[in-house]
Amino acid sequence: MNILLLGSGGREHTFAWKLTQSPICKQLYIAPGNAGTAQHGININISPEDFPALKKLTLEKDIQMLVVGPEAPLVKGVYDFFKNDEKLKNIIVIGPSAEAAQLEGSKAFAKKFMQKKNIPTAAYREFTLENIQEGIDYIARQKTPIVLKADGLAAGKGVLIINDITEAQAEFKAMLDGKFGAAGNKVVIEEFLDGIEFSVFALTDGKDYVLLPVAKDYKRIGEGDTGLNTGGMGAVSPVPFVDESLMQKVEERIVKPTIETLNESEMVYKGFVFFGLIRVNGEPYVIEYNCRMGDPETEVVLPRLKNDLVELFRAVETGELHKQIIEKDERIATTVMLVSGGYPEAYAKGKTMSGFEHVQDSILFHAGTKADGDKVLTNGGRVIAITSLGENIPSALALSNKNADLIQFEGKNYRTDIGKDLL
Ligand code: AMP
Ligand code: GLY
Repeated sequence: MNILLLGSGGREHTFAWKLTQSPICKQLYIAPGNAGTAQHGININISPEDFPALKKLTLEKDIQMLVVGPEAPLVKGVYDFFKNDEKLKNIIVIGPSAEAAQLEGSKAFAKKFMQKKNIPTAAYREFTLENIQEGIDYIARQKTPIVLKADGLAAGKGVLIINDITEAQAEFKAMLDGKFGAAGNKVVIEEFLDGIEFSVFALTDGKDYVLLPVAKDYKRIGEGDTGLNTGGMGAVSPVPFVDESLMQKVEERIVKPTIETLNESEMVYKGFVFFGLIRVNGEPYVIEYNCRMGDPETEVVLPRLKNDLVELFRAVETGELHKQIIEKDERIATTVMLVSGGYPEAYAKGKTMSGFEHVQDSILFHAGTKADGDKVLTNGGRVIAITSLGENIPSALALSNKNADLIQFEGKNYRTDIGKDLL
């Protein structure tokens, strides 16, 4: 079948790499893609949020499956757009309906959803301009640090963790005043959870699910997890502290009740659920839901997945997910992200990349790159992810770091300590 993949990051290059390993995939199209996805299919320069253009492309290219990488088109309703269109409704769409995508699109929605079955998460209250004073008084009664979250999508910037009550009150007001635009019309104030984070991924048809390999990502720009937050500087899978007993708690207390609640509330969900979790005193809590795969987690999860991904997606559509058994590569995968100088603050694009031919024993997943004739140019903050498999974290990481050194572009930066905290 012909498949259309939406997105342009490292996650999408990894999807492109994996989908085209399936004999079921005849031709892959990527909208808009990057220099890496172009190695596996045909990039089409249209926005994942331009639904009429996606419709035209789907019909022209005889697309039979749509795989949605990022959250924005899902929250905007790409699933519903396809299913409500007479000509598109039979196309398999991997991703939730707009209603279910609110699990990521609205923090308040996700919190209410979790309360239905007492899924463990931080205690919270939600406020709008209408009860702003109550919010200010509420903050005054809290312990620090205080966690403030803009309700809607804010490009990963909508969460603030603040150590001072007065400052938290000022930020709270600024959020309701439009600091993050409409995303902050509602603000969730949460209890701070102190622990270690990890990411669990399920593929579901809304009734059954399969679990993919567990991963941990590294969000801060600096070594030792210091400095500013980024989209993700690297990841590792599996995660040594996520043992069988913790995973059993995750499945019983979090994954099963989540899927049951989706099923009972009749929300249409045929795609990935990303559980952003934290372990506090040995117990798992939900920090957030995302309605898509993680980035850079995908760059370590899919290389460890042995199953045919297109077959898994077909099983989602036909309701036969329960028959699928997930097979994993038992080795450890690490990925190290090369980023542009200055990132996550201002950075330059268009730098010429070189050294690809020297890379050995790693897989390169392009994130922010662009082909320019024979050349590859940087085209984003996160530029390329270098994934390696090894018998343990040090051996995998040594390969990723060796190859990180071999790829060159002006301003290149990366962390050399991915996964070292887990040793
Ligand atoms: P989110 O956008 O919800 O993933 O939040 C971004 C990051 O903020 C998370 O990955 C956590 O590191 C942190 N965070 C969010 N909520 C909490 C919380 N209740 N307690 C501690 N850290 C949190
Ligand atoms: N790596 C975290 C995310 O994709 O949101």
